[in-house]
Amino acid sequence: MTPEDFIKANAALMSPPLVPEIKLHLATEVVPLWRATEEELAEIGVPPPYWAFAWAGGQALARYVLDHPELVTGKRVLDIGSGSGLVGLAASRAGAASVLAADIDAFACAAITLNAAANACTIATTQDDLIGAPPAWDVILVGDLFYERPLAERLLEWLGPLDVPALLGDPGRTYFPKTNVEKLASYSVQTTRDLEDREIRETGVYQLQRSKPGG
Ligand SMILES: C[S@@+](CC[C@H](N)C(=O)[O-])C[C@H]1O[C@@H](n2cnc3c(N)ncnc32)[C@H](O)[C@@H]1O
Repeated sequence: MTPEDFIKANAALMSPPLVPEIKLHLATEVVPLWRATEEELAEIGVPPPYWAFAWAGGQALARYVLDHPELVTGKRVLDIGSGSGLVGLAASRAGAASVLAADIDAFACAAITLNAAANACTIATTQDDLIGAPPAWDVILVGDLFYERPLAERLLEWLGPLDVPALLGDPGRTYFPKTNVEKLASYSVQTTRDLEDREIRETGVYQLQRSKPGG
């Protein structure tokens, strides 16, 4: 079964609560596959389906971009850790000149392409790990990526010194930076109990402030 077939068979086109103008292939709570453990998924050769949820950080950042299109209009945008593609799709709808959605999961890249088609948007995808790459973008968008320490540290080491604006959407994950961030907006985001321990997550959108390399 190809990733595309898997996604079509196991997800349904739905809009995230905070971003009703965008449709995504998302997990439905009635499909038992999404209750499977990581070990069970590994046995059938499927990585944890991060792409099948619109994470609170991504929902907030997508909402902010759609409501402030001047941040991306006419610009080259990178959506790093794109998952479903939600944030990149918001940038595309807000008038970005180009959007690259990067996710190291092949299923995510397949989901992003399907979701772009469902929203009549054109966005490029890459499975390359771009953290540390020389920036070829005008804006970098980061939706809900501060859930693991090594990933958070690599991201901040890369983004901090860059001369490129980085916007972060985050519901207070453990490894979200406590300094060098300026809060731009906050949202009460409806999520699912399958994913989070509560139904509403207070979620911020932040601008990362520049820091010295290693600082
Ligand atoms: C919690 S999900 C967030 C998805 C989306 N941004 C959102 O907010 O809905 C994290 C995603 O980051 C991806 N990811 C993890 N490490 C990555 C890396 N080094 N480069 C690109 N994507 C990465 C995962 O595969 C996963 O799809």
